[in-house]
Amino acid sequence: MGASGSGKTSMRSMIFSNNPASLTSRLGATIDVEQNHVRFLGDLILNLWDCGGQDAFMDSYLTTQRSTIFSHVGVMIYVFDVETREMSKDLEYYRDCLEGLTQFSKEANVFLLVHKMDLIREGDRAAVFQRKVAELEKASGETGVKVYGTSIYDESLYKAWSSIVNTLIPNARNLSKHLRIFAEACSATEVVLFERTTFLVIATSSPSDTSDTFSSDPVAAHKLDPKRYERTSELIKSFKQSCSRLREEFHSLELELAEFTAVLDEMTKNTYVLVVVHDPVVETAAIKMNIRMARRKFE
Ligand code: GTP
Repeated sequence: MGASGSGKTSMRSMIFSNNPASLTSRLGATIDVEQNHVRFLGDLILNLWDCGGQDAFMDSYLTTQRSTIFSHVGVMIYVFDVETREMSKDLEYYRDCLEGLTQFSKEANVFLLVHKMDLIREGDRAAVFQRKVAELEKASGETGVKVYGTSIYDESLYKAWSSIVNTLIPNARNLSKHLRIFAEACSATEVVLFERTTFLVIATSSPSDTSDTFSSDPVAAHKLDPKRYERTSELIKSFKQSCSRLREEFHSLELELAEFTAVLDEMTKNTYVLVVVHDPVVETAAIKMNIRMARRKFE
């Protein structure tokens, strides 16, 4: 959900259809609702509704289509253009949508994206974002919301979408536990599981609440970049696009640097795993063999 031109179809086409950001300017306005079924993980199918944001459509979602639009919602993602000149109208529609959710899908999670952050000067971004967060939290009243600053031109989009999708994966915690055991078996600093087509992060071996703060061992010892997950998603996605331009298919990646070794390889039919090892004694071939042997367990 979100006003016309706020960037909903652009982010959908980048994450779920692997289109580059440069092509999003050619997208036309969405007419009514565009539904996509994305097979995400095995039997987990995301039913994605991209609701065109022109006023006439919004009015219809809130009246005649109300029960269709707001029933059985797992997550509502409301996109706000950070530079909008019509914030009060946006907020009015947003509050109406929250009411729709309260009526038909009480349990739904709500994510708010303050989008097109690239349009704000870098030095002002943090302050502008904080102001928006305060404004949006106030408008949300009692509803608990998560707010992310996003742009299609950097990795921020992947961070937001990974956490959105995470709330929809029923066994994400269990997966993290198994990844921790696998990381230990590989003497790895960290193991990250990505969804195959979107390259969104599904689970990591590091506890999620400490992934940004370096407080967990062994991640702490190596001062890993807090943006490493979403950066990897973004980089691999554009590398895959380059591969497909050359009519090649991306299969796996090995990096052997002075400080660490990293292997990115298929884990299951729907996932890729990234194993990062700082121990120089561990050979890449051994990591690959461990991945091969763990496949059946994770399938
Ligand atoms: P409706 O379909 O009418 O509801 O609009 P929408 O929300 O789907 O907007 P759309 O995705 O079509 O994007 C509108 C314009 O915003 C396009 O020209 C995009 O290239 C541009 N855009 C999308 N995301 C970003 C962003 O992060 N930064 C900047 N600068 N432009 C963006």
